[in-house]
Amino acid sequence: MSETKKPVYQPNREFAATARIKNMCEYETLREWACEDYEGFWESFAKEKITWMTPFNKVMDERNFPFVKWFEGGKLNVSVQCIDRHLDKRKNKAAIIFEGDRGDKQTITYMELYNHVNRFANMLKHDFEVTKGDRVIIYMPMIPEAAYAMLACARLGAIHSIVFGGFSAEALRDRIDDAQAKVVITADGAYRKNKPYMLKPVVDKALEGASPVEKVCVIERNGEEITWVKGRDLAYSELIEKHSAVCEPEVMESEDPLFLLYTSGSTGKPKGVQHNSAGYILWAQMTMEWVFDVKENDTYWCTADVGWITGHTYIVYGPLAMGATTVMFEGVPTYPDAGRPWKMVQEYRINQFYTAPTAIRVLHKMGEDAPNQYDLSSLKVLGTVGEPIDPPAWQWYYEAVGNSRCAIVDTYWQTETGGHIVSPLPGATPIKPGCATFPLPGIMAEILDPNTGKKVGNGESGYMCVSRPWPAMIRGIWGDEERFKQSYFGDVTKEGKPVYFTGDGAMYDEDGYITITGRTDDVINVSGHRMGTAEVEAAINKHEGVAEVAVVGKPHDLKGEGIFAYIVMKEADSIGEEVALAQEINAIIKQEIGNIALCDDMVFVSGLPKTRSGKIMRRILRAIAKGEAITQDTSTLEDPSVVDKIHAALNA
Ligand code: WTA
Repeated sequence: MSETKKPVYQPNREFAATARIKNMCEYETLREWACEDYEGFWESFAKEKITWMTPFNKVMDERNFPFVKWFEGGKLNVSVQCIDRHLDKRKNKAAIIFEGDRGDKQTITYMELYNHVNRFANMLKHDFEVTKGDRVIIYMPMIPEAAYAMLACARLGAIHSIVFGGFSAEALRDRIDDAQAKVVITADGAYRKNKPYMLKPVVDKALEGASPVEKVCVIERNGEEITWVKGRDLAYSELIEKHSAVCEPEVMESEDPLFLLYTSGSTGKPKGVQHNSAGYILWAQMTMEWVFDVKENDTYWCTADVGWITGHTYIVYGPLAMGATTVMFEGVPTYPDAGRPWKMVQEYRINQFYTAPTAIRVLHKMGEDAPNQYDLSSLKVLGTVGEPIDPPAWQWYYEAVGNSRCAIVDTYWQTETGGHIVSPLPGATPIKPGCATFPLPGIMAEILDPNTGKKVGNGESGYMCVSRPWPAMIRGIWGDEERFKQSYFGDVTKEGKPVYFTGDGAMYDEDGYITITGRTDDVINVSGHRMGTAEVEAAINKHEGVAEVAVVGKPHDLKGEGIFAYIVMKEADSIGEEVALAQEINAIIKQEIGNIALCDDMVFVSGLPKTRSGKIMRRILRAIAKGEAITQDTSTLEDPSVVDKIHAALNA
């Protein structure tokens, strides 16, 4: 089924003339090179982009697929790639520009970054006994110390695992336990909308009872009162100054792990996605250069949080690996008003701005004309990530923010892909609203028919897959090889061989442009954040009155998708109690996962639609949540009347 034809916008000639990839011919040449000589392509970029301590002697080894190895024999340190190697030329260049929620500002040059990170590494080594291979949890607000902590871990060869500051104590505890982390780095709290909020009490709670964590490093940001556990909690401010600003980088193998990042899957608890050193940093840097086309004197701003993969690759590792200036922002884009981001663009002369469709929708709704009030002429590239962008949001971004002259890069990727895999190139790709366009050179991303394993044609839909391993590909799920194989390589095969399946559906339009249509599994995408329905269900099930629950996604004007729960109570008669029950259940979700998983809708029903073998028919529940007519045959349901009862409950 083909959609209505979308308008095509040609790249701005002014930017295109100097872009790293200038036109579709150059793009095709790179793509063909990778197709014809895959190893040669990657070998050449790995040699050019990475500052090796010892060169690699083998490009890739896929004999043990899906456990692949890249650049074996090579030795490097990612913190050297991000800092040391820039000192010759960029010592006084701003590496990080920080703006706090309340408008406080800080510029950190590459030389200063070097000093901070080396001190931090020495502190972790001597006061926290962190050594190569140890897992370190980072539970931090968006302050420069979060980046120092990441890079200090990289310097020591310790594996960091950042937990987004919005996650609850239970969620934090699960991740600490799964990673068997030795140290937690946190802050007392930070500021949001000019008010302090707290993180340290959440850490205290997560560490109650038995825990593998020996010590906690506390950075003071908001100065609010916190509890200090003697012998366990150490204050950063009291330790850091006594350490030397020189810490020899650990010599790391290409395939030594760099970090774990927990993300939701369709079943069970979140999984610890593992990324390794060389392949990840190579692709972080290459995509930064190609997709954002950041120039030496540019200032780049990505509004993500370091707790998500976007913050890893496109606030810290990618920009610093290429020696760019990256902006870090503690606050929320709509505070004090929806002009905040545009005010910052004007003030810092931001050239590339990268955010999520949810933020664009909110900024549009709350401040349609706000971009007009600022000088946004510095902007060249506008990025979006995390969820499909709807054409009206795209159009506003393009016209009101970009003044119809910037490139929109709708970047499609995932925690597991390490960096972008499908995206326009700002100087080259003619763009269309809502299209992530084409695979990046070197990435064999294609839409396959899951039944035949063949690439689908233009105008057709299928599963978004990557048919060859690439350097930044997920290397494993921490501690669970079987789950790694099953999660990504179980569903689609091409020519008899398993390929990486993203979990997303996609389609080619009449010109072969890729549009991502959304998850095909039980993962929902709330404001660009991945949420497993199974996780939310497990939390709701903790309410002692709940007999059964099914959670689905429902389209939401601002968030993209909202969370919709169908709940069956043990006591059939809960009439009149719905509001109180819903509050109790949301309180449990907040405690188990965090505010980001709160349900937008809860409906109390007498039963769920199930097949005779007891499987919940989620498709029916999704259709009801969307308000769509039920088109599928309900006669195979164990109790077909259940559907009418659900409708009745919804209309009650
Ligand atoms: C979705 C975020 C449409 C997709 C980087 C994917 C997108 C999930 C886009 C990964 C996009 C990401 N268009 N959908 N441009 N980018 N997604 O792991 O469903 O938090 O599988 O990584 O977000 O979410 P994750």
